Amino acid sequence: MVIAIDGPAASGKSTVARKLAEKLPCTCLNSGILYRALTWQILHSGIDPADQEAITFAVSRMQLELSVPPIGSPALQIDHHVPEFESHDNEVNAAVSKVATVPAVRSCITSLLRGFGKDRDVVMEGRDIGTAVFPDTPYKFYLDASPEIRRQRRAAQGLEDSIENRDRLDSTRSIAPLSIASDAHVIDTSNLTIDGVVDAIFEILTHASRDQQ
Ligand code: DC
Repeated sequence: MVIAIDGPAASGKSTVARKLAEKLPCTCLNSGILYRALTWQILHSGIDPADQEAITFAVSRMQLELSVPPIGSPALQIDHHVPEFESHDNEVNAAVSKVATVPAVRSCITSLLRGFGKDRDVVMEGRDIGTAVFPDTPYKFYLDASPEIRRQRRAAQGLEDSIENRDRLDSTRSIAPLSIASDAHVIDTSNLTIDGVVDAIFEILTHASRDQQ
């Protein structure tokens, strides 16, 4: 069973997904971390994040796997090694949405995510989990918040993140753009606490499982 949680940057989805997974309980997978790890590797190989051809070639030569530790979060293993990096590093923030538009990148990460969710109960969060990675899951949530609130959340975290720019790139790319699945539950988190959002999702899931019995 895959519970898909999608939404734009700073909509609260990573924290909500982690807490929901603890409450259910089940595994949690943050797909953005995989795009970030690959972006970090691209940058550290000296490749221009706007050079789609060079990225496609580099990815074709990488061995990409998911490393799944017994405790802790799954991570992207690149050529048998999990890169150690600061995932919200400014350089990665500025490049990740560009790298995520590259079809070869999307197809590699999508197949890792599908393999991971195939026989597990998992809360998986990202941009395209309910629309493209697991479109058949009945459990889809789309979290949103006003741009002002999202900017304030990032500033409070002390992070430099061009949210508008990432939103634009993430929602206008040709493959699997950020969009709301027609059967997703949309939750505006602007005026809710994290626990309030987790409880709202938990209640919807509880009703859905009762209806199925
Ligand atoms: O969730 P995040 O902000 O850490 O994600 C970083 C970037 O990764 C996001 O701006 C676009 C890309 N991404 C994606 O394209 N598809 C996903 N399922 C998850 C993230």
